[in-house]
Amino acid sequence: MTQLFLNASQVVTCAGPARARRGVEQGDAAVRERVGIAIEDDGRILTVAPEAELRTAYPAATIVDCGHGVITPGFVDSHTHAIFGRARYEEQEMRAAGLGYLEIAKRGGGIHSSVRDLRSRTAADLIALATERLRRIAAHGTTTVEIKSGYGLSLESELTTLRVIRQLAADLPLRLVPTFLGAHEVPLDHRETARDREAYIGLVTEEMIPAVAAEGLARFCDVFCEPGVYTVDEARRILGAARAAGLQLKLHADELENGAAAELAAELGATSADHLAAISEQGIQALAAAQTVATLLPGTMLFLGRPKQAPARALISAGVPVALASDFNPGTSPTVNFPLVLTLGVSQLRLSVAEAFVAATVNGAAALGLAHEIGQIAPGFQADLALFDVRDHREIPYWYGDRCCQRTWVGGRPAHLG
Ligand code: NIG
Ligand code: FE
Repeated sequence: MTQLFLNASQVVTCAGPARARRGVEQGDAAVRERVGIAIEDDGRILTVAPEAELRTAYPAATIVDCGHGVITPGFVDSHTHAIFGRARYEEQEMRAAGLGYLEIAKRGGGIHSSVRDLRSRTAADLIALATERLRRIAAHGTTTVEIKSGYGLSLESELTTLRVIRQLAADLPLRLVPTFLGAHEVPLDHRETARDREAYIGLVTEEMIPAVAAEGLARFCDVFCEPGVYTVDEARRILGAARAAGLQLKLHADELENGAAAELAAELGATSADHLAAISEQGIQALAAAQTVATLLPGTMLFLGRPKQAPARALISAGVPVALASDFNPGTSPTVNFPLVLTLGVSQLRLSVAEAFVAATVNGAAALGLAHEIGQIAPGFQADLALFDVRDHREIPYWYGDRCCQRTWVGGRPAHLG
């Protein structure tokens, strides 16, 4: 049965080319008023048109009354680490007392503490924890979530994590995109000597990646390429093996200190380079000459209490497409609230509201290689929608920290109610 979404005060369509938007293009969210949306049985958008036209064309359609709210494409959160066990609230105070993120990691905290914890849990336990967290993510307007492994760091527990994501994708009314991040850290039992470290990289490239690819468990491979974690050369080798196995590439690049990781992402033609708070001018130029999306995670820098955000304006001026994502994880960004990421996009990264919406939808989709399917309200695209209880779309980043999202739909089906 055709559905008509009527009575919205605004529809943020983000309609336009089915690819990443750069430069001035990123500044047009194509907001429309006095239009409705027709959705076909198959969950795709038929048309966006004046309401009277839609009522005449589809007299038998089911009506969804948007109650003067604002409809947007469901947010595409293209960077999360949503499979983890316990929260790491104790590190927040440690940082406040002056310890750095990498110092906490060196003492066996940080990612290592999540690794110990995840390895002690059953798949059922991880599914239960993630289900609850994903429900809260969905309740804020997100309809697609990329999820990385990376708290297993052994063949068995990385595969368990990715199988958990596969199960969640089957169970939940959300689109989930799995990424293999076996190179999230060097595990503690592989750090003694250079040979130990080499052995772990061998495990990632020769055992984990082939196993992940053989079971079809991930679409992307990512590496935490950062001074003190994985070097550029190591990341190049790991991503080379991933590409040879048929995976697409992402990179945690220049998050805390510059290490020319953005340049590596550009060199490899990675789908996205993520974080970039410490990107250099050369890194910006390298991304501008590539097809790579710059995925910025302002919640992470806020939560870590770091003063320097990624240079979003310089990236946009250079013609790099910018996406926004939550980085939802227990260590550096425990937020389920995507509209808050929009707020930070505007207030910290100095994006316009339109740029932030495009970053959260079309460019998030492009960061997942899905810009032809999701991220805009236009004919042929999946009807992944979010309804907000506001009259103007600029209120969504304005009421910061609030939850204005009322309902979401994935492929035209209710995904989250109230
Ligand atoms: O994106 N940078 C590496 N990974 C995460 C943090 C993970 C953690 O601390 O548990 C990030 O910030
Ligand atoms: Fe991350």
